[in-house]
Amino acid sequence: MNSPIPVGIAGVGHSVPDRIISNEWFAQFIDTSDEWIVQRTGISERRWLAEGEKISDHFVVAGQDALERAGVSPEEVDLVIIGTVTPDYMVPSVACIVQDRLGCTGAGAFDLNAGCAGFLYTLSVGRQFIASGAYKNVLVLGGEALSRISDIHDRGTIVLFADGCGGVLLRRHEDCGQGLIEDLTLGSDGSGYHFITRPKGGSFEPITQEILAEGSHLLHMHGREVYRFAVDQMSGLMEWAMKDQELDQLGWVIPHQMNRRILETATSRLNIPSEKVYINIDRFGNTSAGTVPICLSELFQGGQLEKDKFLVMAAFGAGLAWAGARIRW
Ligand code: ACO
Repeated sequence: MNSPIPVGIAGVGHSVPDRIISNEWFAQFIDTSDEWIVQRTGISERRWLAEGEKISDHFVVAGQDALERAGVSPEEVDLVIIGTVTPDYMVPSVACIVQDRLGCTGAGAFDLNAGCAGFLYTLSVGRQFIASGAYKNVLVLGGEALSRISDIHDRGTIVLFADGCGGVLLRRHEDCGQGLIEDLTLGSDGSGYHFITRPKGGSFEPITQEILAEGSHLLHMHGREVYRFAVDQMSGLMEWAMKDQELDQLGWVIPHQMNRRILETATSRLNIPSEKVYINIDRFGNTSAGTVPICLSELFQGGQLEKDKFLVMAAFGAGLAWAGARIRW
């Protein structure tokens, strides 16, 4: 995807809840163990919202940090886009709530639903607004409150999903001098929509007492089928992003954190050294649209992003939808 005006990442931020959920905690609801979860997923613990806490609280913190690091004031923001499938409310968008709480007076605001690829989809949309010359400052965030839509009695999903978010402020590359978005790709295959879905409670079959009782308004996933798609898609996206690049120029591969085994298989297929693959699923689980920007923000905070090295980002999930990016830091 070409960009007439080069676009850069001027600031990065993330925020996760303080509440830590250990693997052992689940044993009171489901038949599972710390050993199974660590071996099959790579997750040791994850963050969940506390009662009364909202994911918008965290979008505001991540947005503030990204703006401060970019040296841009909230009033200068032209547009706020949030990739999420778990906004505070079904209506309105959480982006409008965040726009108001950040003080981005008069900025456009909307949510974007692309499942786990939500942040990279959001990044691609935000980039277009800068690349076209329409806007100067676009805040793009991604994240979820998956604990709020997961079924505590479904051991195939509840141990994976978690809460948290992150994001970036986009500007012209000449105005920020870092994080050049070199290329982006998007894709989808809606014939697999039923593999990861909240089957009921949408406009087709609105909420009833029966739906609530059977839990079909919650997230359902066919884990084994998704697993197979995920390995192929993730390695394909990484291969696309690394094409014609020298491996010694690689800074980091930043994959969507879906399952440690999927990431290890996908990256070993391409002979990517494991020390170049950023993994935090052990601490944060799968926060869907939140994983890629949380990883990026952690790398930034840790001073681990080297100038001029390239970053490979890849994400795959509900839709089915996927996206990849190559960024020159
Ligand atoms: N604890 C103990 N046993 C479990 C658990 C658990 N938490 N979950 C499943 N099992 C059991 C199953 O019931 C099954 O038992 P059975 O053989 O008696 O039927 C057994 O473990 C093996 O089940 P599998 O589904 O084959 O286990 P697998 O190794 O595939 O792991 C998992 C399941 C972790 C869900 C895996 O399939 C996976 O990660 N899938 C991909 C998930 C993903 O990538 N999602 C994409 C994005 S979705 C998003 O990000 C929002």
